[in-house]
Amino acid sequence: MIGTSVQQLWEPRPGWLNTTSYGLPPRATVETLKTVIDQWQTGACSWEEWEPAVNQARVLFANLVNVPYDTVAIGAAVSQLLAPVAASIPDGSRVLVPVEEFTSNLFPYLVHADRGVEVVTVPAESLLDAIDGRTDVVAFSLVQSASGYVAPLAKLTTAARAFGAMSIVDASQAAGWLPIDASDVDVLVCAAYKWLMAPRGAAFAAVRPEIAARIRPLAAGWYAGEDFHESYYGPPLRLAASARQFDISPAWFCWVGAVPSLQALETAGIEAIHEHDVALANAFRTGLDQPPSNSAVVTVAVDDNATRRLAAAGVVTAVRAGRVRLSFHVYNTMSDVDTAVTAITGRPL
Ligand SMILES: Cc1ncc(COP(=O)(O)O)c(C=O)c1O
Repeated sequence: MIGTSVQQLWEPRPGWLNTTSYGLPPRATVETLKTVIDQWQTGACSWEEWEPAVNQARVLFANLVNVPYDTVAIGAAVSQLLAPVAASIPDGSRVLVPVEEFTSNLFPYLVHADRGVEVVTVPAESLLDAIDGRTDVVAFSLVQSASGYVAPLAKLTTAARAFGAMSIVDASQAAGWLPIDASDVDVLVCAAYKWLMAPRGAAFAAVRPEIAARIRPLAAGWYAGEDFHESYYGPPLRLAASARQFDISPAWFCWVGAVPSLQALETAGIEAIHEHDVALANAFRTGLDQPPSNSAVVTVAVDDNATRRLAAAGVVTAVRAGRVRLSFHVYNTMSDVDTAVTAITGRPL
């Protein structure tokens, strides 16, 4: 479990069980953001002092998911980073997606219907069996936002590769609590404002170089240049050779904030966070007489009275697909679990 000295890096309100919506930043992130906002207010420094945070965050994310840092591109949102990937899918392709997939990893393919891109949906649990010789792309969330279901990553990427299909994985609900090896994933995207606890406006895409070669960098601007200081004006096109060619000009402060958040994750250690988050989630399920699910995201069907009791007890959750969704992260404690179980069942753990 995560020790109290590590948990002191954060300052959550008791009962915040909603990291699936957004993660809480460590104190260091908030302090850093206050500093840059002060700098911005008076023009105390050049933007060039904020910009290096982008590469620092890129390296920290690359280490977290076990890919080379120069295969990681940055942007503001998952759907935005997926747009050029989806545009690279050939006309008439068949894209396989879980039916309950969060739409940022679905709409980017559906908008290509006019050129014959066909999207086929199946339940997340059936995805592996549905991959066959007709599949050109398999796109799925590693952890489903609506249910907390954890996809069998290695099996899915292996099956996709065996049938010559591209794998596109949305790690937004996974990276930060689930140890991930993305080295076999063709494209792995991740919004950083949830389990990575960064400000909204920072997102990553790790693209395998063989796949990158097929993708047109449709959002390229000066920041995608090989040397962005030499890319302000005029032709020729001079994009970065690495995945930076897919970079979208950074929202500076989001990236300045992302670095201390990712550093706090690194300090806590992904294995320890995984153990901690899953232990809390499983303890919550045990309190409701349910078997462990080994996911940091838990959903339960509860009646309106229980929902009201949860809110009255100060437990912050979300309702998704008709169920209450609770998420357990590094800053949560057994006391949060106890409060939630008591509110739902009327009896303490
Ligand atoms: C699985 C998943 N992906 C992506 C996002 C956010 O997508 P975007 O960055 O396109 O807003 C969410 C937000 O809830 C999500 O749950």
